[in-house]
Order: sequence, then C-alpha cells, then structure tokens
Amino acid sequence: MTSVLMFCGLLGAGAWIYMKTAMHGFSARSEPSRTETMMANYARDTAMPSSAKKLSNPVRFSAEVEHEAMVHFADHCAACHANNGSGETMFGKGMYPKPPDLRLTRTQHLTDGEIFYVIENGIRMSGMPAFGGEGTAEDSWKLVYTVRHLPRLTPVEETEMESLNPKSPEELQEEKNEDEFLNGADSSSKTTTTHHTKGHQH
Ligand code: HEC
Repeated sequence: MTSVLMFCGLLGAGAWIYMKTAMHGFSARSEPSRTETMMANYARDTAMPSSAKKLSNPVRFSAEVEHEAMVHFADHCAACHANNGSGETMFGKGMYPKPPDLRLTRTQHLTDGEIFYVIENGIRMSGMPAFGGEGTAEDSWKLVYTVRHLPRLTPVEETEMESLNPKSPEELQEEKNEDEFLNGADSSSKTTTTHHTKGHQH
C-alpha cells in the first residue's frame, strides 16, 4: 500500500517537474522560484545530521590561525564564493543553486558545527564540493573562523586575498613566458610551489 502511494507521489512530482521544465527550461541561469529555493535549503538541511549542530570549534583562535585560513579561503573557496563571500564570481553566477552570500544571516545563523560539516561534506545536488578527507578537519575548523570573519572583512584583507587567488591558465602561461624571457631558455625545470595541502581539490 505504501509503495503504491509512493509511486503516485513520485508520478505527481515527476509530472510537476516536467511541466515546470517544459514552461521554463532547466537552465541554471534563471532565477530560482520560491519552491526551488525551499527545495535547495531543504537539501542542505537534511544533509546535516543534528549531531553536527552541537560541535564546537576545537581549534583555538589566534590572529595567525585567522590569517592562515584566509589564505586558504582565497586559494580554495574564492573562485565560487568571492574573496568577500558575496558569491559574485564568474563561476558562482552560472551555478544553481548559486553560492549564497556567506556574510548574510542564512549562513551566519548556522552553528560552527554546521559550517564545519558543510565544508567537510559538501552539499549534495549543488556545486558545493566536499573538502573533507584524512587530516583535513583542522583546516576546515580554521575555515569556519574565516566564514565568521567575512562580514567584517577589511579592504586591506580583501586586497591581500586577491593577490592569493589562483590564476587563470592564461595568466600562468604569460608569467611562465616572462620568466623564461628573464631567466634565459632553461627555466622550464623550475618547479612552482603551492601552499595548499592534503586532499584538497579545486
Ligand atoms: C565549485 C564552487 C565552490 C567551491 C570551490 C566552494 N563552494 Fe561553498 N558553496 C558552493 C555552492 C554552489 C553553495 C550553495 C549550495 C546550496 O545552496 O545548496 C555553497 C555553500 C557553502 C556553504 C553553506 C552556506 C549556506 O548558507 O548554506 C558554506 C559554509 C561554504 N559553501 C563554504 C565554502 C568554503 C569554506 C569553501 C572552500 C574550502 C567552499 N565553500 C568552496 C560552491 C562552492
């Protein structure tokens, strides 16, 4: 009996999605309707176990920790979220659900544990990747401090972050060419160092 009901429910949902799609297409560019936003928030909230809510940040706060995490954010998160957390980036704008403005209540009202959980596990059915892996917990807890700091980010900090953002392939190529020009032909053996670590990916 329940399976018959479930079947009918699915059929109904399918028909609804089909009609919406037929009317508006399924582009990630169009503004999400209220129902869609609700569904996206629901996806986020159900993905979070209630035990995550209660976790408190085990990393002790210091100016160094905050700075280190800011550097990390500029490198790994800003491509989608922007340095200031607004989500106004080339990637961010083309995504659905879009990266929310991390400075606003929607994000700031999450507990530290929930923010940590999102960073470690990502959000299903969205562009938010999981950054968790072995030994990443500490980095993710530090990033929680960055997320909390975003509403108070200073212009000086933002400028510093800009200098730390990963460069586009074209820019990297240009730099390499300049390097080769300045150092003679055999600079190709030079290795570039990156400061990101363990299991994190773009
Ligand atoms: C490839 C793009 C992308 C990258 C890189 C990315 N995010 Fe996200 N992030 C998203 C999207 C899209 C969402 C919104 C998902 C949703 O609403 O379901 C999101 C959501 C979040 C949220 C939840 C906000 C809320 O109010 O629900 C947090 C916190 C977050 N990201 C932090 C980070 C941090 C920290 C990093 C770097 C370690 C990062 N993100 C890297 C795309 C990205």
